This record gives sequence, C-alpha cells and structure tokens, in this order.
Amino acid sequence: MSRIVYVNGAFLPEEEAKVSIFDRGFLFADAVYEVTPVMQGRLVENAGHMKRLERSLGELRMESPVPISEIAGLMKQLVEKNELWEGIVYLQVSRGAADRDFAFPKDAAPSLVMFTQEKPLEETNGSRLGIKVISTPDLRWARRDIKTTQLLAPSMMKQAAKDQGKDDAWMVQDGFVTEGTSNNAFIVTRDGVIVTRQLTNDILHGITRASVLRLAEEAQMRFEERAFTIAEAQEAAEAFMTAASAFVTPVVEIDGAMIGDGKPGPIARRLREIYIASALEAAE
Ligand code: PDD
Repeated sequence: MSRIVYVNGAFLPEEEAKVSIFDRGFLFADAVYEVTPVMQGRLVENAGHMKRLERSLGELRMESPVPISEIAGLMKQLVEKNELWEGIVYLQVSRGAADRDFAFPKDAAPSLVMFTQEKPLEETNGSRLGIKVISTPDLRWARRDIKTTQLLAPSMMKQAAKDQGKDDAWMVQDGFVTEGTSNNAFIVTRDGVIVTRQLTNDILHGITRASVLRLAEEAQMRFEERAFTIAEAQEAAEAFMTAASAFVTPVVEIDGAMIGDGKPGPIARRLREIYIASALEAAE
C-alpha cells in the first residue's frame, strides 16, 4: 500500500502528489519544515513544532497557506489515513511557484505538503547502545534558528560520518560545538552538570531540547546553557543529543574517544525515560 500524503488541500496516494518544478523550495530551498514525532498514533509535542513553524515563516516573510491552528487537524487525518503507530509527520511550507528570480515573488501562493514516515522511536539501537559521532567544521549559513530545507551542509557532514563508519557529526564553529547535523548536543560534566549550547542564531532552538531542560529542572538536575569544546566533551562523564526523531539518544564516542565507560550514561538514560513518559502523557 502506498502512503497517502497531503498536498495543498488534497490527500492523495504518494504517486499522484505533484509540486511544480518552479516551486521555490525546489529552486532556492525557500521553504521551512517541521518534524513531529508520532507515538501510539498520537502527535508528540506538536504545539511546540507549530509555534516554531510560525516563527520560521515570520522570519522569512512567508505565509502559511492554511491557518497554523488548523494544521494539527490535518496531521491527525494523515496519521489516521496511514495507520501510523510510531514514526514522524514531516511538514513543509514553501513560498510557492514563480518564475525564477532571487527576489521574493509578489503573487506566489505558498504551498503546504505533509507526509508520514514509519520509524521506530522508542526502541532503537541508538538508544540502547549509544551513537558514535565525529566532529566537523560547521559549514552552514548564519540563520540556523530558522528551520529551512537548506540541508545540504548537514547532509554532507552526516555522510562524512557514515563514510567513517560512525553515526553522526557534531559541528564546530570557532572551536565550540554548535549542534549535531539534525539534533542538539549535550554533555554531562564529571560533577553532574548538564551542559548545552545557549540559544542564538547559531543553532536550531530544539523543541526536544527545551522539554529536556524543563524536565531536568523539575527533576532537580543541574544544567548550564553555554558552549563547550570537543575536548571538554571527550572528557565529560556523558554525552547525548536530542531531536524529535531521536528523543534523548546517548553519544558514546566522539572522534574515536570513548565517553565515560563507552556505554549510555545514567543521566541520558533517565532523561530519555522521563522525556518519553511526559511526551506520551501530553500526546494528542
Ligand atoms: N531535526 N538541530 C538541528 C540542526 C535539527 O535539524 C534538529 C531537528 C534539531 C532538534 O530539534 P527538535 O528537537 O525540535 O527536533 C536540532 C529534525 C528532526 C530533522 O531534520 O529531521
């Protein structure tokens, strides 16, 4: 059975879904996206993703073709039509189709597409064993706070990691880790302080990151929002990353150096547990 996808007002089999070759998402990466996890057939943390979508659109002076408040309803229909139990809903808004010109077109109609992907989220090798990362220079543009589809640099860095038999890359700018190719980076110092980079335009303001920090605070864990180096991360007691499609996933190796005892650490495991419990409780 092929998937049913959503394209500009219609639910269609994926083979029949079409967008124009003049779509500015295709020509200029003039598009923003969101990834919402689905667990037990329900949307996880979607309100946060919709809020960030609205902000990304605003930063690019782009309109949503459908009121943001109506998108969750469409997503739920998509999940139902595809009988999705565990995975993600991918959503993309582009500025729409217009004859190719760098300036924003005056009369293009924005486009909204959505599709589902089945994907194990709760039980994964990454969460059981931890993942291995390499470091790479951060080659991306300067507005990483906007979730655009301009993903060639992180895609190249992820592939560089795969080519070396590793799982992901942590990107480094001016000597400090910014984030993972599609996740936020964390370490836990040897005296138990959780550290993750502060929010600026240098990183995406992760929805999972925000929830994990809130849960850590509620659990009376100590945390600091500041930049750290690869050397500090290699000396840390633990490392982990967060993303909608990975929740909290331990990192057990950085540039060949084992973190802690090379196994997922207790703080990462605990945060993953409480994150999943709280996300499920609030899922819609
Ligand atoms: N990526 N940093 C970057 C660069 C990301 O692309 C993502 C998410 C995150 C984590 O944000 P959140 O917790 O809101 O998912 C951080 C998604 C999952 C993706 O591109 O597939």
